[in-house]
Amino acid sequence: MEFEKKFLDILESADSLVFFTGAGISAESGISTFRGEDGLWKKFKPEELANFDAFLRNPELVWEWYKFRRDVVLNAEPNPGHKAIAGMEKLYDQVSVVTQNIDNLHRRAGSSNIFELHGNIEKNYCIECHSYFNSNELEYVNKIPRCNLCNGLVRPDVVWFGENLPHDIFSAAEKTAESSDICFLVGTSAIVYPAIYIPLSARETGATLVEINIEKTEISGEVNFCFTGKSGELLPQILQEAEKLKHG
Ligand code: OAD
Repeated sequence: MEFEKKFLDILESADSLVFFTGAGISAESGISTFRGEDGLWKKFKPEELANFDAFLRNPELVWEWYKFRRDVVLNAEPNPGHKAIAGMEKLYDQVSVVTQNIDNLHRRAGSSNIFELHGNIEKNYCIECHSYFNSNELEYVNKIPRCNLCNGLVRPDVVWFGENLPHDIFSAAEKTAESSDICFLVGTSAIVYPAIYIPLSARETGATLVEINIEKTEISGEVNFCFTGKSGELLPQILQEAEKLKHG
């Protein structure tokens, strides 16, 4: 893609970047997105799988779904989009990733400053005593993981419908966004609150908003630059431009 000079000038003068990412950045790693024709919410019902009451009603079903998703994630690899974001750390003073994804692919790609707004599929906690367990430490009783300290039900450490986002992570992410020069919105339908407040706060404090998506979204009309295409192709191109601008 030929990038316009106005964008390249901003990419050159910026010191601090934030990447606000959604399921679309992991699509090229073979992980399904939530919305759209092949999206997870077309095939599965969030009210049966992604809320606390559903978990109490049928923990076995909810665990079956999370084990399936965990297997998908463990067999996936970070794609050139994740890697390009990690590569930006060599060029800019501050590079942060604020992700709605729970798949760990930013970490595996090498990004070091990551805010996971919706949790992490590798982490779990006991709903009674709040002890934390990594997925490989779980002890299953009748297909449901139980806490080895108090025998309470263990749940995935992810944010379900109706639940609050982790307050400390959200405020830290907001602070980072507010101090950014450019906020990239990558592979997100940009309709889920309160996550979407992150790029909106960046904009309020003067950051340039750049959207990267295969199609137009709810927020396309409000961003400064809108690049249409796959993140696994566009982000490496942007990294290449940044390398030329910063190192000549
Ligand atoms: P969505 O499934 O809502 O949106 C994915 C976006 O990625 C869409 O706008 C696609 O057009 C775009 N997309 C797909 N493939 C792409 C590619 N290769 N390159 C660039 N863009 C691509 O996913 P999210 O916006 O992440 O919440 O959804 C937000 C939240 O809604 C999720 O975190 C989840 C869900 O309910 C919880 O589970 C709490």
